[in-house]
Amino acid sequence: MSNIIKLKTLLLTPLIKFAVKHPGIMETKIFMKAMIIFPAKLSKSYDAKIVAGINDYEMALDSGLARINSEPEIILDLCTGTGFAAFKIAKLFPVAMIDAVDQSKEMIEIAREKAKVDGIQNIHFKKGNAIKLEYADNEFDFIATSNAPIYLSEAVRVLRPGGLILVAYSFGGDAFGKAKKIISHYLEMNGLKLLEIKSIGSGAYVLGEKK
Ligand SMILES: C[S@@+](CC[C@H](N)C(=O)[O-])C[C@H]1O[C@@H](n2cnc3c(N)ncnc32)[C@H](O)[C@@H]1O
Repeated sequence: MSNIIKLKTLLLTPLIKFAVKHPGIMETKIFMKAMIIFPAKLSKSYDAKIVAGINDYEMALDSGLARINSEPEIILDLCTGTGFAAFKIAKLFPVAMIDAVDQSKEMIEIAREKAKVDGIQNIHFKKGNAIKLEYADNEFDFIATSNAPIYLSEAVRVLRPGGLILVAYSFGGDAFGKAKKIISHYLEMNGLKLLEIKSIGSGAYVLGEKK
């Protein structure tokens, strides 16, 4: 088994399956510490090993983005990493202003370099913490996040009423279908209406709308 398949099978998939049922894990100190240590270590090889190295990595996000039938103008990609979702969104909504936030300076540096090389000007990569965002309430028309912890109440705070949020994962997809009730309740508790949960390939996406 290659290291990437081991990482996906032994760590990422079980972690996502657990977090779907126990979202509180993402706020534990140990989890948050791991989220600082690993991205710094993985940043340089992230695109080659994770994004390109894992089958179906793009499927859930692509399918979720295909469900957005409005034209959001102000968009936030949370926990952008090397910009995986932000670059797709910029292609899909070329006139939108996109902020892409990550707490890892190493990841953000790589994302900025990619934007520079590709001449992409409508994504602003910023260092920031998804738990406490430096935005006013109701700023964004659309928020996306992919393969990252989700701090829903803070994301919902900065989303405008009627705005959409898309949460996509490339692994652990079957857990989402099985946890529909829990997920729906979690969204409701945070002021969101569940529009769709879909398991697809190895992953899944959840689409919600702010009430
Ligand atoms: C597995 S990577 C996913 C990157 C990208 N969204 C993707 O789908 O490839 C998770 C990212 O979440 C970021 N992250 C984790 N916790 C965060 C937080 N509290 N605030 C901001 N970024 C965070 C990490 O730094 C890392 O870059």
